[in-house]
Amino acid sequence: MSNYPVEPFRIKMTEPIRLISRDQRLKAIQKAGYNLFALKAEDIFIDLLTDSGTGAMSQAQWGALMVGDESYAGARSYFRLADTMQKIFGFEHFVPTHQGRAAENIVSAVMVKEGDSIPSNMHFDTTEGNIRARHGIPVNLVIDEGLDPRSQFLFKGNMDLAKLEDFIKRTGSAHIPFGAITITNNAGGGQPVSLENIRQVSAMYHKYKIPFFIDSCRFAENCYFIKLREKGYASKSVLDIAHEVFALADGAWMSAKKDALVNIGGWLAVRDSKLHQKICEELILREGFTTYGGLAGRDLEAMSVGLWEGIDEDYLKYRIEQTAYLGNRLLECGIPIIEPPGGHAVYLDAGSLLPHIPPEQFPGQALVVALYIEGAIRGVEIGSVMFAHPDPVTNKVVHPKLQLVRLAIPRRVYTQAHFDYLVDVARKVAENCASLGGYRMTFAPELLRHFTAKFAPVG
Ligand code: F0G
Repeated sequence: MSNYPVEPFRIKMTEPIRLISRDQRLKAIQKAGYNLFALKAEDIFIDLLTDSGTGAMSQAQWGALMVGDESYAGARSYFRLADTMQKIFGFEHFVPTHQGRAAENIVSAVMVKEGDSIPSNMHFDTTEGNIRARHGIPVNLVIDEGLDPRSQFLFKGNMDLAKLEDFIKRTGSAHIPFGAITITNNAGGGQPVSLENIRQVSAMYHKYKIPFFIDSCRFAENCYFIKLREKGYASKSVLDIAHEVFALADGAWMSAKKDALVNIGGWLAVRDSKLHQKICEELILREGFTTYGGLAGRDLEAMSVGLWEGIDEDYLKYRIEQTAYLGNRLLECGIPIIEPPGGHAVYLDAGSLLPHIPPEQFPGQALVVALYIEGAIRGVEIGSVMFAHPDPVTNKVVHPKLQLVRLAIPRRVYTQAHFDYLVDVARKVAENCASLGGYRMTFAPELLRHFTAKFAPVG
């Protein structure tokens, strides 16, 4: 049984969407080189490309925009955000950044040297890209359950502690400028990390004197999963859980476009004053002064309000149940997904659905294109298009273990009827999946190629 949660809000403003014809969709996707990033957003009916920056702001956030202080330095809006940051995350220092990857760039610029390794449960693509851009090596050490779509383990984002210790011993802490963990684990199905695991990871990094950073863009969803699933946390508030999580870290960054419910924004926070000084220098060079970091004063206001709304437990209940509804309905139709459904997205298991398409022919891309042609739905491939890369030693292409299509759910945007439409479309695609063919890449840039690659159908 799938139950759709009642939204804890009502709708005050609407944005029209329209469904273009199948013929128009076929022309549009061909013109886009079969890359859904190259489509016009207006040619999409239900846009699940990302949950990043695509949420609906609340009346309180829109109201807060009007009181933004646009002073270049020392704006009131900065101090309001600093107060929120202190109350939720508790780091000694923080800087605003225009989004998550700006923070990743700064961390990488000031900490990563050529040949350094950065372990995590799983890095997201922009984190990987920023580490590689500094000639560092991102390393993913998620538990094996995290790579098994069928495993019902409740914290599939957890780090494998044995693999982590082995990796640190082999690499040497001198070559690990910092260690990370991503909550929730976006690249691995939006799966949460338990507080126990975060505590053990923190202890492990600290045993080897490695600073511990949290990629926290979906921290609120992760903390809510801890409350729901981890023994001893049911009666704690999400805020209390967040305090426990961040007290374990030496630093963190966040794309506020996710759990802070804004269309643009981010931050980078640390405890160490010397590191903060270096971060400020890099920030001023690339983003802006330390009290606005590439954002307008009004953006800082919207972020301050959004951070509190993001940890509201009525909202989180709705959010997590909405994702579960979509995931469970797809499962009822026999469509394989990463189970159990994660926080911000449902991940279709394209590798299992399309076993006749080898990784080199991008089964995820085949599925994502088919969903667009069938129903003007936009998802994103998270498989070999995004993550296949040449092995640094052998130069042979290494494919990721999972070939996925992510249907990411914008916050407070779509209703049950939108999801029911999507399930019908996905069912039709799945019924005809044997007829789908693979793709070959006709153009690819070196870093973050999925954004601009072009494809052609094979055969
Ligand atoms: N870290 C994680 C785990 C992310 O999911 C993202 C973005 C970033 C960092 C970078 O943040 O986009 O503000 O620069 N994820 C988006 C997504 C793009 O679709 O999952 P950003």
